[in-house]
Amino acid sequence: MRTAAVVAVPLVESFLPAALALVLRALVNATLDDGAGGGWSIETYVGISFALSFGLALTQSAQLYLTQSNSEALEHQLALDVMRHAETLEFSRFEEPSFQDVLKQVRKSPGHHTHEMVAKCVRSLAMLVTLSTLLGILAVIEPLLLVFLLPLAVPYLVYRSWVARNRYDVQFAQNRSRRWIDYYTRQATAVEVLPEVRALDLVPFYLDRASDRLDGIRGENVRSFRLEFAGTAAFNTLAVFVIHIAMLAAANRALDGELTPGDIAIFAGAATGLRGSIDAFVAGMGSLRWHLAHLEALRSFFGIASDRRMNVRTTERAGTDAPAAAPLELRDLTFTYPASERPVLDGVSFTVNAGETVGLVGRNGSGKSTIVKLVNGLYLPDSGSLSVGGVDIGDASREYLHEQLSTVFQHVVQHNATASENIAMGDWRALLERPDVVEQIARRVGLDALINSLRDGYDTDLGRVFGDVTLSGGQWQKFAIARAFAKTTPLMILDEPTASLDPEAEFEVFEQFNELADGRATLLISHRFTTLALADRIVVLNDGRADEQGSHEELLEIDGTYAHLHRLFRTRGESGIWDDSGSD
Ligand SMILES: Nc1ncnc2c1ncn2[C@@H]1O[C@H](COP(=O)(O)OP(=O)(O)O)[C@@H](O)[C@H]1O
Ligand SMILES: [Mg+2]
Repeated sequence: MRTAAVVAVPLVESFLPAALALVLRALVNATLDDGAGGGWSIETYVGISFALSFGLALTQSAQLYLTQSNSEALEHQLALDVMRHAETLEFSRFEEPSFQDVLKQVRKSPGHHTHEMVAKCVRSLAMLVTLSTLLGILAVIEPLLLVFLLPLAVPYLVYRSWVARNRYDVQFAQNRSRRWIDYYTRQATAVEVLPEVRALDLVPFYLDRASDRLDGIRGENVRSFRLEFAGTAAFNTLAVFVIHIAMLAAANRALDGELTPGDIAIFAGAATGLRGSIDAFVAGMGSLRWHLAHLEALRSFFGIASDRRMNVRTTERAGTDAPAAAPLELRDLTFTYPASERPVLDGVSFTVNAGETVGLVGRNGSGKSTIVKLVNGLYLPDSGSLSVGGVDIGDASREYLHEQLSTVFQHVVQHNATASENIAMGDWRALLERPDVVEQIARRVGLDALINSLRDGYDTDLGRVFGDVTLSGGQWQKFAIARAFAKTTPLMILDEPTASLDPEAEFEVFEQFNELADGRATLLISHRFTTLALADRIVVLNDGRADEQGSHEELLEIDGTYAHLHRLFRTRGESGIWDDSGSD
């Protein structure tokens, strides 16, 4: 209905200016003819003119309303579509700066451009009708006008369309700069970073950088505005010239009695209006090109193929008689980050069996968190195999991994949600409506007392962006642990889960650990020997390989990297040896 109106209203409007011009001509002639020539009364013509002008005013207001409401509706729909499509894309895409540029482009009022594209097509068509009818009338009176004006209009149209496309390309390339400016603005205003930014007096530094970027953008845009100005000025100057030559010719013919005063009146009025109409039509075509370019970006974004594993349906493994596959098995796993040339993991093999807790240790940057990301299916291995519950990671759907695996990532995410939701998010489909279970989990990880001390208890809004209460790093980490325990999965991965916890909190978590882990297979990444004491077996990651494996005692016996680091720990204390806290 609304779409039909978007098309119909401008088309109706398009005929009105020419109709008005004809009525005006008849009116002028009627005043002179004294009613001769079978014409209607002056009152009738004024009446028709009133009705047409009224219609014109009405359709113009209706167009404004239709444009606004239609853009709004499209805007909302596309904003959600962009989120939906982004969800299906491979994680590694989001690490590409060029993909972020595309995202920035696509999020710039996509609905507006889509609506304008349709609306501009219709409006251009309507303007073409208006123009043709006006031109038709004028051509009958003085054909000279067409002969000169049309050859001017065509190159003007091509030029404006080129300028529009060029401006789009320039502005697309500016997305990188605009993202930098967003970043500088964020650094200068975001509450998470301000303490350090203020302490280092970094705002003037960011201001300088942002101002340089803005100068660059303005310079490029002004160049584009000048190009457009030059074309517009050239066309309009020539058009005014041509129109007045034609007017002179028409006036002379009126003197000779070839044209009526009504003809001259309409000609003078329409000819001056004509320049503006052609200019508006050409500008409309230019912006059509501009919106079309935006739509191309939108189309290419939605054209990006989904992560192929979105379509994988991981079937249940064979019957219970089959020997149960290990919850996690890495065999000769090799992995290189897309942006990098050197492999991070170069032939890593180890297994986490059911009910077993395996510790994973290694220096900063040895690839521990990379393994966590691989197990979560965020990247695919270069070679070797990684299987979760017997299913190769390449065949594991997101749904399957969600059922098999809970992870405490090293980088603790602070969700802006209530305390209760912050825990329920661990399995939100099941837990959002189960406050009793949420409270039980909170008690198990030792969060209950903290939450009850908050103003609104479990309903307190947490988070720095929208929340009432901001927690400390260690408190947030406890929520992350609670989320991992919210879901009962065969495999659990904890990436330095206690790095931000004080010794007391760490002790509490570990005291509960055996009960919380509940016989699940657990991969426990830590640089703390106290934590590693929980592990049945320890895997040492070194130079992209996992050649040292065994119990604490066995590893000391081997007298390799682990034993070396343990000696350092014994003599100097653990701090500063493998202290990964803060790095991801
Ligand atoms: N997204 C990434 N792109 C490229 N290199 C990365 C990325 N993430 C981590 N790395 C690199 O991979 C190596 C291993 O990192 P990580 O697995 O986080 O180490 P760990 O958790 O053992 O400290 C590091 O050298 C790091 O710089
Ligand atoms: Mg790490």
